[in-house]
Amino acid sequence: MGRWPKPPEGSWTEHYPELGTGPVSFRDSTSPEFYELEREAVFKRAWLNIARVEELPRVGSYLTREIDAAKSSVIVVKGKDEKIRAFYNVCRHRGNKLVWNDFPNEEVKGTCRQFTCKYHGWRYDLKGELTFVQQEGEFFELDTSQYGLKPVNCDVWNGFVFINFDPEPRWSLREYLGPMITALDDYPFELMTERYEFEAHNNSNWKIFADAFQEYYHVPSLHSQQVPSAVRQPNATFECGHFQIDGPHRLVSTAGTRRWKLAPEYMYPVERVTRSGLVGPWRTPETHFSAGLNPGGIEPWGITNFQIFPNLEILIYHGWYLLYRYWPTSHNTHKFEAYTAFHPARTVRERVEHEVAAVVLKEFALQDAGMLGGTQAALEYGVVDEFPLSDQEILVRHLHKVAVDWVEEYKAAHAPVGV
Ligand code: FES
Ligand SMILES: [Fe+2]
Repeated sequence: MGRWPKPPEGSWTEHYPELGTGPVSFRDSTSPEFYELEREAVFKRAWLNIARVEELPRVGSYLTREIDAAKSSVIVVKGKDEKIRAFYNVCRHRGNKLVWNDFPNEEVKGTCRQFTCKYHGWRYDLKGELTFVQQEGEFFELDTSQYGLKPVNCDVWNGFVFINFDPEPRWSLREYLGPMITALDDYPFELMTERYEFEAHNNSNWKIFADAFQEYYHVPSLHSQQVPSAVRQPNATFECGHFQIDGPHRLVSTAGTRRWKLAPEYMYPVERVTRSGLVGPWRTPETHFSAGLNPGGIEPWGITNFQIFPNLEILIYHGWYLLYRYWPTSHNTHKFEAYTAFHPARTVRERVEHEVAAVVLKEFALQDAGMLGGTQAALEYGVVDEFPLSDQEILVRHLHKVAVDWVEEYKAAHAPVGV
């Protein structure tokens, strides 16, 4: 996994010759066969973020995640030693799903001392060990030490809980994240615990939605309500301050000015009244500025959007952040998860600022999501397969290339001998 240096001035794309500058194909987003390979090559081998540590606050706190792309359900639980572990959600007796409530496909969370299977009552402790078998004497030389829950690799970086379905991951989590992401080691995500969550089931390949958040070329056109009128002029340019690529991961930084400095015509009335909006509360509590936040040295810095391959995005603003995850459910559908995270409100006004930011953001994301069915349907006509990308769309080029590279590498490693 190569690491690429910080780009100099000039064309971003040409600085990364591996990407090329020619038109790209989006067959990786329309082909059912490609998706089947992607499940194995990408989703069963990359580190996947499934939770934050705040979601598992106590010994015995657990949650389940249904990960369709890996055809798996996973239990994540905090043990008596405070360590977070992950297991396949499968009872070792006759394979019943171990942890679920009313509907087996719905994710659940809670706190327990042990897990008890609904079917025949086998029990497992928080380390996944089998601790009780009903009528154990009737089994035939049952060695209970061999029937603990099947583990899934699990590790935590700066409060983000990741799993890896590969029994022997090619990289530790830190190695996988690499220097561009671990430069955020000292960003205090743990202080931003007030969360507003939402989820959407979208009719597009997961990468097609991710693409909408890795370029801002579409902003003046699609989000015309949210940008200043100067940006909407036909010959105006709307450019990002800094793009960077490191191994399979990407980032884009944008300049930003806090809104109270901008012309009032730019705002929704509710933003003026509440002093909050799309870019969050106008003022946020003092938050440690990690060196990793602005590697391009943008002045004035506004947002950096970190895209951690394959399906995690963390957008960090001044003193709050936004997280997206894209979970494929088929070659042309995905589940989109998003949340905004703020310092806990100290006053009613702050609470209102957070609610407004969360709602305005949802409107913005819906504008992007509204395009998806159209893009996916037209790509699936299959009549065009060469799409030109501008320099501002370098990260789109990179995401699709990385997905294809991982699939090609997997295919080469699993090709029948002699072929
Ligand atoms: S399937 Fe779980 S106890 Fe039998
Ligand atoms: Fe957008």
